[in-house]
Amino acid sequence: MNQEKLRIAIQKSGRLNEDSLKILKEAGISIDNGKEQLKATARNFPLEVMYLRNGDIPQYLRDGVVDIAILGENVLVEKGKDIIRGEKLGFSKCRVSIAVPKSMKYKGIQDLDEKKIATSYPNTVNEFLAKKGISAELHIINGSVEIAPNIGLADGICDIVSSGSTLFKNGLKEVEVMLKSEAVLAISPKISAERKAILEKLQFRLKSVLNART
Ligand code: PRP
Ligand code: MG
Repeated sequence: MNQEKLRIAIQKSGRLNEDSLKILKEAGISIDNGKEQLKATARNFPLEVMYLRNGDIPQYLRDGVVDIAILGENVLVEKGKDIIRGEKLGFSKCRVSIAVPKSMKYKGIQDLDEKKIATSYPNTVNEFLAKKGISAELHIINGSVEIAPNIGLADGICDIVSSGSTLFKNGLKEVEVMLKSEAVLAISPKISAERKAILEKLQFRLKSVLNART
């Protein structure tokens, strides 16, 4: 008999990967370690795990290729506004912020007008600046954003800040916090009723884990 399974996307590598697997484990779900295979099946729960790139996950959820995911809220704000947000999971807390060189005399958001900003979060920055009536030129890059001001590519950057050490090491200071984020359960708008029933069982278990942690 082919038992119905819930499909979950987990970050393949990066900051969320370890804590995502840990919370599933604490929820009593054991997954064979097959990260290289990009797909694994839980042994004692109807769950299939797909290891995917962070930025690709919203599209998979939108298309219904995966039913749920553990993802940073920041990714949903940037490219998954149509994705359903479930429980906050309490880990991978960070901010999405604008930073400028320490040497810049920053007095307020108006100082960013007509400036160049390097970022991996163009939608988030655009929306934030538009609300404030500021126009800036965005340089979209996928990683190592903090190096941009030092190589003359931009006047400032917008990226994730967690400990703040990347900003510090690159001589930058955080000047605007655009949003605060943590890992959440993200749910496909196309999830079937059968899989939703499995999801409810998973959510029940996750809630007990979260309650026990506080
Ligand atoms: C992330 C993010 C920041 C940094 C923030 O980069 O893009 O650069 O972490 O963390 P911190 O405040 O604790 O220093 P990551 O190291 O994941 O690499 P990437 O930018 O190349 O993807
Ligand atoms: Mg980085």
